[in-house]
Order: sequence, then C-alpha cells, then structure tokens
Amino acid sequence: MVSLTADLSPLHPDRNLAMELVRATEAAAIRAVPFIGRGAKEAADGAAVDAMRAFLGTVAFQGRVVIGEGEKDNAPMLFNGEVVGTGTGPQCDIAVDPIDGTSLTAAGRQNALSVIAVSDRGSMLDASSVFYMDKLVTGPAGVGVVDIRLPVGENIRKLAGALGKPVDEIVVSVLNRPRHEKLIQEIRDAGAGTRLMSDGDVAGGINAARHGARTDMCVGVGGSPEGIVTACAIKALGGHIQGRLWPRDDD
Ligand code: FBP
Repeated sequence: MVSLTADLSPLHPDRNLAMELVRATEAAAIRAVPFIGRGAKEAADGAAVDAMRAFLGTVAFQGRVVIGEGEKDNAPMLFNGEVVGTGTGPQCDIAVDPIDGTSLTAAGRQNALSVIAVSDRGSMLDASSVFYMDKLVTGPAGVGVVDIRLPVGENIRKLAGALGKPVDEIVVSVLNRPRHEKLIQEIRDAGAGTRLMSDGDVAGGINAARHGARTDMCVGVGGSPEGIVTACAIKALGGHIQGRLWPRDDD
C-alpha cells in the first residue's frame, strides 16, 4: 500500500517556467471568453487581468512586471514594478498584456491575444515613457535586408527580392489609423497589397514573421509595450524587428 502522505517530490515532473507562463495566458484568455462580442472591453480586460494575476501568484519565480497595465496609481493590478510569483526560483522581468486587442474582443473579432514575455532580470526594456513606437517586422528573410530607416517602398522591393517573389505578391499589414494614410498609400504605390488591421499589432507582427502566413511584413506606429512584447516573440520565432519610439510631443 502506498502512503498518500509520502514525500513525492523526487517524482514530480520538471516545471518549465515558459509553460507555466503559457498557462497564465490561458487562464486570462479563458476568463475573457464570456465577454467576447459583448461590447464591454474594460470588463473583458479586467477579467483577464484578474485571472492572469491570480495564476502568476502560483508560479515559482521571482517576477517583476516591467511592462504591465500601467503605473501603480492607475492600475490596481499587474502595475509596472509589481512583484509577482511565489518568491522562489529565477529572478525575471516580465511584460504582460492579458488582452492585446480589447476592442477586438468586445466586438467579437479575431486576433486578440493574451501574452506574457519573460527575460532575465534587468534585460527587458521599459519603454513606457513613450506611448507609441514605429515598428517594422518581417520573417527571417528580412534579416539584414530591410531597414526601418528606408522608405517603405524600398523595403518592400528588397524583401520581395529576398523572398524570390514579385512585389505585387507582397502583403503588408498595418493598423488602420489616420496617422498611417501616407504610409498605406506608399505601400500601394510600391505595388504591394495591404492588410489593414483594426487593432492588435502584436498578432500582426507575429503573423508577418510566421512561415506560410498571409502577410510578409508588418509596419507602422502602435503601442510601445506591444512593440516590446512583439520583439520578444520575434526573437523566439526568428525574424526581423526594428522599433523606434514615436513621441507625440517634446515632453
Ligand atoms: P488594447 O488591447 O489596449 O486596446 O490595444 C490594442 C492596440 O491595437 C494594440 O495592438 C496597438 O499597439 C495599439 O492598440 C494601437 O494604439 P491606437 O489604438 O491608439 O492606435
């Protein structure tokens, strides 16, 4: 007979921090499900934040939120600087976005994601001082080929060359915003197609870097925190990302 009180710890399977954090994103996504298409983006976000935070409290690490839901006074939970985890295990920085695409969720549309990025303590860029970031993302073919400092048309031509396909088969995703009117025109003038996103440029960036995805490049100005999270994803997937902060005024 096996004693149920026996110390089973030597038999416990290894815990993988990344998988534990994936489960935290799952918890957030599942908790947001009842809010899909209900027109209540704050409620959806609140439910996802609660679930993610509760789950993170069970994960054996010493996590520090570098990119969270905002500064402490505005965000009751997962605020920048908050310490999460059980307090044992590796010291890490994390960037969290319990829902990237709260409006997509509220509208019942696709491409909302729940994301966590993790890095060694002290190595995650805190870009919160500037709300927006200009971004350029491609798959591995763009490495050493495209450059955010070049006109978008030139990048499209270079990427088409590297991919070995005609320019008119290149599809570029970009957030559909008035600030991108000129950019969208330049993409079309270069001969490429556009995929206009209503929200969610983390999914847009990841899709541009995925093999066999329907887009080849993701460009334009979106949130800085989303840019950092996307950069972590691209680092893991392989691909190219450049970002430059896009301040709206001198301050
Ligand atoms: P939320 O989930 O916070 O609503 O963000 C969605 C999003 O579309 C991001 O993916 C994107 O980086 C940012 O908003 C763009 O900001 P804006 O809507 O101000 O152009």
